[in-house]
Amino acid sequence: MQVCASCHGADGNSAGGAYPKLSGQHPEYLVKQLKDFKTQAGAKQPARNNAIMAGMAAALSDQDMVNVAAYFAAQAPKPGYAHSKDTVALGQKIYRGGVAEKGVPACASCHGPTGQGIPSQYPRLSGQWSDYTVAQLSAFTQGSGARNNNEAMHAVASRLSDSEIKAVADYIAGLH
Ligand code: HEC
Ligand code: HEC
Repeated sequence: MQVCASCHGADGNSAGGAYPKLSGQHPEYLVKQLKDFKTQAGAKQPARNNAIMAGMAAALSDQDMVNVAAYFAAQAPKPGYAHSKDTVALGQKIYRGGVAEKGVPACASCHGPTGQGIPSQYPRLSGQWSDYTVAQLSAFTQGSGARNNNEAMHAVASRLSDSEIKAVADYIAGLH
């Protein structure tokens, strides 16, 4: 936990968008990510590719992952804010209704109307730093070699334009 705190904050509320907030996140999701950062037997690369977190995850046993996930899941999440007045309406529209003409489903249908997610199935997004969310949606778009750990999110992210990604990420930062 002390190692993690330098980037993610002692209470899982990181100081800026280079590092995700982990506070209040569903523990099953956190464990899955830690496993996905490790290269699994028989695979050439990890399902989720990040050099820093690969090193961190490699040092953790399965039980350490469960323990550290339980710790961060139990911390109170700090709310965030949307910053771009001009794109909030578009972000909200995408989040609540998707983009029908591109076959993008509403984010709310899986991540919940207030971004709380559904424990063990869909992660919490509420209040996450927008820079981090933009980076993850771009990584899902690239898929293999970047973030290749969920088919549905690969399909969703691939259909969004850069400006739609920015708008929905900014909206999520202020969602609670
Ligand atoms: C040197 C900085 C650093 C340290 C220390 C660090 N992390 Fe991270 N962590 C990151 C970065 C950067 C990301 C985003 C990776 C990406 O873009 O895929 C991340 C992502 C994560 C994620 C994915 C979160 C999500 O919402 O999907 C989890 C879980 C995580 N870290 C857990 C930990 C744990 C547990 C520790 C301590 C054992 C730790 N981290 C230590 C930098 C760090
Ligand atoms: C069909 C269900 C579904 C829909 C619709 C969906 N998501 Fe997801 N999303 C998921 C799942 C499942 C994950 C976790 C993937 C994993 O295990 O790594 C996820 C993960 C994410 C993450 C990564 C969170 C983190 O902490 O790293 C972001 C960001 C995200 N979704 C944003 C969105 C946005 C924005 C939309 C709408 C445009 C959306 N999702 C629509 C199922 C969905």
